[in-house]
Amino acid sequence: MNQLLKKFPEEINRILARYPIDRKQAAVMPLLHLAQGEEGFVSRTALQEIAEITGISTTEVASVVGFYTLFHDAPEGKIRLQVCTDVACDLRGATEYLTELCEKLGIKPGETSTDGLITIEEVKCLAACDKAPLFQAQIGDEVDYHENQTPARTIDWLRSMSAALIGTPLKTISLEETKPEEGGSHE
Ligand code: FES
Repeated sequence: MNQLLKKFPEEINRILARYPIDRKQAAVMPLLHLAQGEEGFVSRTALQEIAEITGISTTEVASVVGFYTLFHDAPEGKIRLQVCTDVACDLRGATEYLTELCEKLGIKPGETSTDGLITIEEVKCLAACDKAPLFQAQIGDEVDYHENQTPARTIDWLRSMSAALIGTPLKTISLEETKPEEGGSHE
């Protein structure tokens, strides 16, 4: 039994009704969004069930997940922090920013902090090239952008998010204290 269909029959019918009957594959993105909203990532089972619903192969569904930074095929931290280090951002110091931030967090790109709070990822263009260093933060279904960052500013934001999400101080930053920057915007 297709568990996605079983759990969300109305939502899936609504999604499929937006597309011509012979273009069901166009529903892949909203179906992925639905599956990810349920589990926090798109599981192998969800890939197969979406393939079944849309009539395309599991590999084709997986390729959509692999292409978009907003879809994930594994569970990660509560906050996915994605830093663009593409050429334009690199020229504005994005790589140095990411390196320093990772040092402060004690994790490398692609890794999750031991408290399960933060996953940091290196991604390609996020369409805000003149505002680097910047990151895209995904928390559940919410996505927002934080531009013109410094490691200290980002750590400051992570501290506030840590308190809001798990109600405790940011344990990950056990190393040196990073003083919040004065007067800087978080956007
Ligand atoms: S190159 Fe980084 S946002 Fe475009």
